[in-house]
Amino acid sequence: MDTMNRYAPALRRIHWLTALLLLAAYLLIEQRNLFPRGSEPRALMVQGHFWTGLAIFVFAVWRVLLRRRLGAPPITPVPPQWQQWFAKAMHLALYAFVLVMPLLGLATAWSDDKQLLLPFTQLAVPALLPVDKDLAHQLEDLHGTIGEAFYWVIGLHIVAALYHHFWVRDDTLRRMR
Ligand code: HEM
Ligand code: HEM
Repeated sequence: MDTMNRYAPALRRIHWLTALLLLAAYLLIEQRNLFPRGSEPRALMVQGHFWTGLAIFVFAVWRVLLRRRLGAPPITPVPPQWQQWFAKAMHLALYAFVLVMPLLGLATAWSDDKQLLLPFTQLAVPALLPVDKDLAHQLEDLHGTIGEAFYWVIGLHIVAALYHHFWVRDDTLRRMR
């Protein structure tokens, strides 16, 4: 494999780390009903969701800056033009997702009077938004709806990667490995 034809190591590492963090963020919040409201393990899961989500944001900012500087390697053989445009739109949507969702989540938590606690302490990060339950419910709906919608976008992204690897047999996936 021609090593020149891969994403830069930092971009590859952040891509897969983001995928793992997203899996954790989703699992922690979707499975919180395993424990009753007000219980310690449930609160830990919700705090885990907040912090994995914020980590996703930090890596997303870092990744966008790196990506602008380092670019992306070409795919061999070159896919049809329509696929390149479609992939670009999907990737932009995924970047927007990892940048916007954490901020929306943070705004939801603060406006809902849910504290973001420093790990292993009871110290809350000072909220930068006033409590507003109506706004909180709207933000939470939006955050939840986008979260559900992106199961499909991420699913399609994975199917596209597998299609390129096993069907078209080009180097799309190897470039990110
Ligand atoms: C990319 C990162 C994130 C994703 C994909 C994500 C996704 C989700 C999903 C799917 C839900 C479940 C909605 C439901 O069950 O109806 C949720 C709920 C929530 N998220 Fe996030 N989230 C992210 C980041 C964050 C961050 C960084 C925060 C706050 C610091 C946050 C705060 C919340 C809150 C407050 C809820 C409602 C939880 C509750 O009802 O107790 N999220 N999120
Ligand atoms: C099993 C899971 C995943 C696989 C197999 C996978 C595979 C790939 C592959 C092969 C590429 C290169 C595509 C190309 O250059 O045209 C790519 C790029 C990308 N992936 Fe994933 N991915 C996965 C999960 C995710 C997740 C969860 C996200 C969510 C943020 C994501 C976001 C992106 C983005 C934004 C790019 C564009 C990179 C760029 O050119 O700047 N991926 N992925």
